[in-house]
Order: sequence, then C-alpha cells, then structure tokens
Amino acid sequence: MTLMMVFSLAGGCYASSEGPKTWISLGRCNGKRQSPINIILSEVSHNPSLGPVSLVGYENSKELREIKNTGKTVDVHLGDGLHLGGFGLPARYTAKSFHLHWGDGVFQPGSEHQIDGKRYSMELHIVHTKNNMNMSDAVKDPKGIAVLAFFVEGSEKAQSKTADAWESFAKNLKKVSKKGEDEDLDSSVSLLDLMGSTDLARYYRYPGSLTTPGCDEAVVWTIFAEPIQVPPKVVKKFSSELSSTDSSKGPQLKNNFRPVQKTGDRKVEASDALKDHLSSAAFLVSPPVVFILFLSITTFVPFLSV
Ligand SMILES: *[C@@H]1O[C@H](CO)[C@@H](O)[C@H](O)[C@H]1NC(C)=O
Ligand SMILES: [Zn+2]
Repeated sequence: MTLMMVFSLAGGCYASSEGPKTWISLGRCNGKRQSPINIILSEVSHNPSLGPVSLVGYENSKELREIKNTGKTVDVHLGDGLHLGGFGLPARYTAKSFHLHWGDGVFQPGSEHQIDGKRYSMELHIVHTKNNMNMSDAVKDPKGIAVLAFFVEGSEKAQSKTADAWESFAKNLKKVSKKGEDEDLDSSVSLLDLMGSTDLARYYRYPGSLTTPGCDEAVVWTIFAEPIQVPPKVVKKFSSELSSTDSSKGPQLKNNFRPVQKTGDRKVEASDALKDHLSSAAFLVSPPVVFILFLSITTFVPFLSV
C-alpha cells in the first residue's frame, strides 16, 4: 500500500517494474536519437525550405474507426484515407492511429516535449508510416514513421468550435474506462476539428524515436509551435475517467509521458514561418541570461580574490 502510493506519486501510471527508468535495457531506449526532448529556442536553426505541412483527408470524421484503452494511453485506430506530405518528408505518409499523453488535470501538465522547459497540459500524437508500411516494417527505416505532435493546453479561452469537438471526442473515454476495452466510433468529429486553428506552417522538426519501448529510432518528428486550446474540464477527463488496469477501481491512467532525453548533436529545425518567432524569443531570452552571467561573475569575484 505504502509502496504503491510512493510509486503513484513519483510516476503516475507507470508501475515500478515497467517505468521509463527500467527501459534502458529494452530495444533502442538507451540510444542517441531518443524522444521526447526539450526544444531550446535559442539553439533551433531556421530552415526556410520547411513550408506548411500538407494534409489530405483529415476533415473526414468517418476515418476515426475505433478507440481503445491500452493501459498506457487511449489509442484511436484510423482508416487508410489520411495522408501527410510536405517539405523534408521523402514520401507520402499514411496516418495509422493517434493517441495522447497527459499529466494529472491542468495543474500537473503532461506533454512529452517541452519548449524552453515548458510542459503543456497534454500532447496529441498522430502516427503515420511511410508509404503505408505496417509498423513492424516502419520501425526498421530511419524515416519509416512521421509523428505530428500537437500541444494541448487547458484554457478558459478555448474557441467554441474546438471546445465542442474535444468535448464530443472526450465523451468516448468512459466507454473504454478499463484497460483492454475498445469501442467502435461513429464519430462526428474529425482530426481537423480536433486540431482547431493550429497554424500548419509553424513547427519544429527533428529526428527521434518512439517514446515507448522498443523506442525505435525511426521517427521524423513535427511539433507544432502553438498549442490547441481546450476547456480545462476536457483535460481533467483524461486523468480521471480511465483506469490503467482491467479493474475500474485500478490506478488511474495518468502521467503517461516519458521524461525528456538528451538532444545530443541533433539539429532541431524551425519551419520558415517561425523565423520572426525565433528572433523575438532570442530577444526575450537574452536579458535574463545576461543577468545570470552578471550574477555569477559578481559571486565568483570574491572567491577569485581570496
Ligand atoms: C508487414 O509487411 C510485410 C511486407 O508487406 C510483411 O512481410 C509482414 O508480414 C507484415 N508484418 C505484419 C506484422 O503484418
Ligand atoms: Zn505518443
């Protein structure tokens, strides 16, 4: 009992025997191009050839076929009609599924990626494979998988159309409250509805991995800069209505994000449309950095003179 409480405080849904710290021996989890990462804006390089991502079929709500509680996340199986293309992607990619990562309500955010150390409430991952390969083939190709990642932020300022879409989608959660349960979807909501007014021209791009074992290093990541704003009560539903076991009284499925991994010598690129955003971020970031340098110099001087 005490142990369980300690672990649930420390790691949410990940039980002691399977948490991210124990993944080192699994698959590629100890590799050099792992995900997620913290994106540090002052180290991102602007790539003018990264134009808007192009999406085909994402407006079709009928492509959302089935929802399942896997015990680790809630996964939606998609039909084969959603395609992704665009700059820096060597082929056409087909969307296979989407799922989310979250923390515990809006006050304990649970996105996987971070921007300058900021974590958002949740993160939506749309998983695609190159030329519609199956996942077992895709993980063997360094660019076999393309994930579109959207930050999701609980906010009272959510636009009503986006709020309605997420509220409608979240109604399905209680139908799959236990691990292993699945349900056919007769969805009136499309992925485009869930994406809201996200600007598809503004994103970061880097080479990484799956964020669960075997952590295969096969993913081209596209992380949109602006979060989708959804009502706080929708965020709360994810961490309160799902169980991580086959008992409805089991531990709640929450905090299902992997800690950030080392970026190493990988280059994180910003799309063309983010050019101004990067330079204004650099401007905003630099005064505190100068101030900290100033502080550390003034605190070191007495030591040097001793
Ligand atoms: C994946 O596709 C390849 C090639 O089409 C096939 O040989 C393999 O059996 C498939 N694997 C699974 C798990 O379906
Ligand atoms: Zn994910």
